[in-house]
Amino acid sequence: MRMKNSIQKPFGDAASVEIEVRQFRADEWAEFKRVRLLALAQDGSKFKFEAREELTHSDAQWISRVSDPDHCMVGAFIKATGAAVGLTIASISPSREELEIGSLWIDPAHRGKSLTMSIYATFFEWSKDKPDLKYVEISHRAGNKSTEALAATYGFTRHRVEKNVIWFDGAVADKIFYRWEIPRSLFSAAKPDVKHSVNIKPDDRRTGL
Ligand SMILES: CC(C)(COP(=O)(O)OP(=O)(O)OC[C@H]1O[C@@H](n2cnc3c(N)ncnc32)[C@H](O)[C@@H]1OP(=O)(O)O)[C@@H](O)C(=O)NCCC(=O)NCCS
Repeated sequence: MRMKNSIQKPFGDAASVEIEVRQFRADEWAEFKRVRLLALAQDGSKFKFEAREELTHSDAQWISRVSDPDHCMVGAFIKATGAAVGLTIASISPSREELEIGSLWIDPAHRGKSLTMSIYATFFEWSKDKPDLKYVEISHRAGNKSTEALAATYGFTRHRVEKNVIWFDGAVADKIFYRWEIPRSLFSAAKPDVKHSVNIKPDDRRTGL
């Protein structure tokens, strides 16, 4: 994966908003629930049919998801308010060799600012004490141009295709999987609880696809 030199965008502008990318804390489960349900309401067609189950999750299920040690829930938060404007979930595969990154969603008002780079960097920090991991895997519904562009930008390799998947909106389409081999050097220096901050000018975002 190609990583950029810097994840900071210090515009120093009075109108800018500081976004902090970090793991959801266990006591932020309700904010996690809010932003995940918002993602499903606004962009449900990008996610799998099984995500419909989340619509009826109990609070206890949301709490247990945020606390699961085999999952890393990362959010992009407006630092001043703590409101989440994006989320992504990484899960360790049953073989424990793959870090599966999914459920990626950024609020349209905050897209185009490379927040996914900070999200991935947070996953890598979380992964540093898990040296059995060999690959990062991402996937998307065939035709999802923004995720396709993201995979190309970050140097993922197309790995496999799952045919005829049913999606959240009931449509049937292929699911495209990509892989990136994790360099061993990633595990050399564990630094837990890393946070990334990005300053964003509200008028400086890419028009989404
Ligand atoms: C996918 C999504 C999270 C990308 O959000 P984003 O804020 O645009 O992501 P970033 O700014 O971090 O972009 C990372 C890279 O992805 C690519 N990319 C993402 N969206 C793009 C777009 N609309 N046009 C061109 N390239 C795009 C770019 O290569 C970009 O690299 P850059 O920072 O060098 O320009 C966002 O579009 C989204 O939430 N979509 C709806 C839900 C969804 O599709 N989730 C994915 C499910 S698999």
